[in-house]
Amino acid sequence: MNILVTGGVGYIGSHTCISLLESGHSVIIADNLYNSKRETVEKIKYLTNDNVDFYEIDVTDTQAVDDIFKNNIIDGVIHFAGFKAVGESVKLPLNYYYNNVVSTMVLADACLKYNVNRFVFSSSATVYGNNTVPFSETMDPLPTTNPYGETKSMSERILTDIARANPAFSVSLLRYFNPVGAHESGLIGESPNGIPNNLMPYVTQVAKRKLEKLRIFGNDYPTVDGTGVRDYIHIMDLAEGHVVALNNLTEGVHIYNLGTGKGTSVLELVKAFEVANDITIPYEIVDRRPGDIASCYADVSKAKQELGWIAKRDLIAMCKDAWRFEIKINKN
Ligand SMILES: NC(=O)c1ccc[n+]([C@@H]2O[C@H](COP(=O)([O-])OP(=O)(O)OC[C@H]3O[C@@H](n4cnc5c(N)ncnc54)[C@H](O)[C@@H]3O)[C@@H](O)[C@H]2O)c1
Repeated sequence: MNILVTGGVGYIGSHTCISLLESGHSVIIADNLYNSKRETVEKIKYLTNDNVDFYEIDVTDTQAVDDIFKNNIIDGVIHFAGFKAVGESVKLPLNYYYNNVVSTMVLADACLKYNVNRFVFSSSATVYGNNTVPFSETMDPLPTTNPYGETKSMSERILTDIARANPAFSVSLLRYFNPVGAHESGLIGESPNGIPNNLMPYVTQVAKRKLEKLRIFGNDYPTVDGTGVRDYIHIMDLAEGHVVALNNLTEGVHIYNLGTGKGTSVLELVKAFEVANDITIPYEIVDRRPGDIASCYADVSKAKQELGWIAKRDLIAMCKDAWRFEIKINKN
């Protein structure tokens, strides 16, 4: 299939492009490079020995999106493009609602106009709010604590309503847990600007001694050791989950958790990183971060039963691959 991948130069999108190309699909990327670098497109081509069409456009731009649909045969869309920093979304809610929700509407509109009936959407475990773990697709989404989470709930709702009104339109809502690690080559990975918001890039920068020590937000949660528990999933497992979801897409709306089903505390992840890479990670415990929940991990039985998909790579592989990328790419 010819797949339009919005945000395909970003962290999850670039790894998914590799999986798509390796599975025999063709890829058209639309990305405005707001949070990514053009050289990643070349790396995707190099790693797959394949071609990729790249459009540097903003996917909230109706005309630019229409031009792509008009000039290409598109069989499906995977919509990654969006802003993702929870804290920033609290400060800049309008930017988040505009970018994340309008982009979904513009793309869905183009799909209907050009009869493109496959739509895979990047959603998030955030939509479960403070439900009881493990989070299951049968649970009702709860109000989230931030505008970012609301943009995901709203986009899910918009796509669901469109699919109800247009029975041929097939939608897969993929709720990601915590993607970490990098492609095994170490050539592409997660490279945030400034001080990282997420744990693994923070850990790798401490390992590199770019940051002095890891700040752990709270050790008094009701968890195994008091630190927050998350469901870390290797980025290549997540990427492969998209290909499987796309290949199995049938009419209607399908929701899948993409995680490992296993909760790991911050201290457990730090320990795994130290063991995997033989590096000490200095840390300090600081106050809880507003909006954080104690535990977040997936019930992954639905994806296993319906898609035959499970995450294969373990925590040690996640830590090794994240570190390989850090030392290979971020040399300074
Ligand atoms: N990384 C995570 O932990 C996580 C978890 C759950 C959901 N998600 C969602 O997955 C998607 C991808 O996340 P990521 O980690 O790869 O983020 P990322 O920032 O690395 O990638 C997003 C890409 O979209 C592009 N982009 C943003 N707005 C755009 C626009 N209007 N037009 C064109 N391009 C635009 C950026 O330049 C970037 O290349 C996002 O929608 C995010 O909300 C991410």
